[in-house]
Amino acid sequence: MRLGYKKDFWDKYQIKAEVKINPLLNPSLLLTGESGSGKSYALKELLGTFLKSKEGNGAELWFLNYKDSLDFRFLKNYPRYFCGEECRAGFEAFYERYNEIRANEGEEIKHMTIGCFDELPAFLLSIQMKDKKLADRYMRNLGEIMMTSRSYKCGCWVTNQRADSAYYINGTREQFHTRILLTRGMPSKESLAMLGFTREDLKSESYSAGEGLAFIDGQGMCEIKFPQYNVQRVEAEILQHLSCKP
Ligand SMILES: Nc1ncnc2c1ncn2[C@@H]1O[C@H](COP(=O)(O)OP(=O)(O)OP(=O)(O)O)[C@@H](O)[C@H]1O
Ligand SMILES: [Mg+2]
Repeated sequence: MRLGYKKDFWDKYQIKAEVKINPLLNPSLLLTGESGSGKSYALKELLGTFLKSKEGNGAELWFLNYKDSLDFRFLKNYPRYFCGEECRAGFEAFYERYNEIRANEGEEIKHMTIGCFDELPAFLLSIQMKDKKLADRYMRNLGEIMMTSRSYKCGCWVTNQRADSAYYINGTREQFHTRILLTRGMPSKESLAMLGFTREDLKSESYSAGEGLAFIDGQGMCEIKFPQYNVQRVEAEILQHLSCKP
């Protein structure tokens, strides 16, 4: 599937050269960047592209929108969509579903299962304030899913403003098969370091919303640009391709 476009080709030659990934090989995705850098906007476009792709055909989507971001309210009647306080039940259900898939080992897994977490740390922090042990368990569950998911055609797509290791314990952050840093202007040294990126990876003088760096397992580093799109069209496509109808 198309992940985005090569920023250098876009800027220098106005050519839309695609950056592609195989979701079966790279099922987990981390989108990092400060507020307004274009994470949710890119996530929605990626969902549309994925669900229309061969690998995403019939995929089972779970969506946790803890911050109740407007971008994903169009999913509100979808049974596997959770927002605010519902996210706890959503996380438990997603984890249970993952274990069910694992337990059916031997049976052919026909389609992919993707858990999407818009602003995951906000959710984890809210749990942490009420029940530190439970938050710890969720972080471990996530790590466990990430480490073993590829064999079961499962993945996690996560956005966050800061990819702080406090939320990705035991090296979970490095388990994302695709790691993207979006930025407006220039990213801080700290945000680069959190993804294992360096200043040398930055080839442009400045970045706008939807632009940044991507590290793709099996491909390496590149500069990426997400396109502008027609929001209504993409939302309609997502709803049309969901395996379980609202
Ligand atoms: N690829 C893009 N091309 C053009 N404009 C974009 C692009 N991505 C984002 N934008 C613009 O930037 C705005 C902010 O993007 P978005 O809401 O996705 O940011 P965010 O990183 O999710 O922020 P927050 O962390 O606050 O949720 C969008 O509403 C859109 O207008
Ligand atoms: Mg957002």
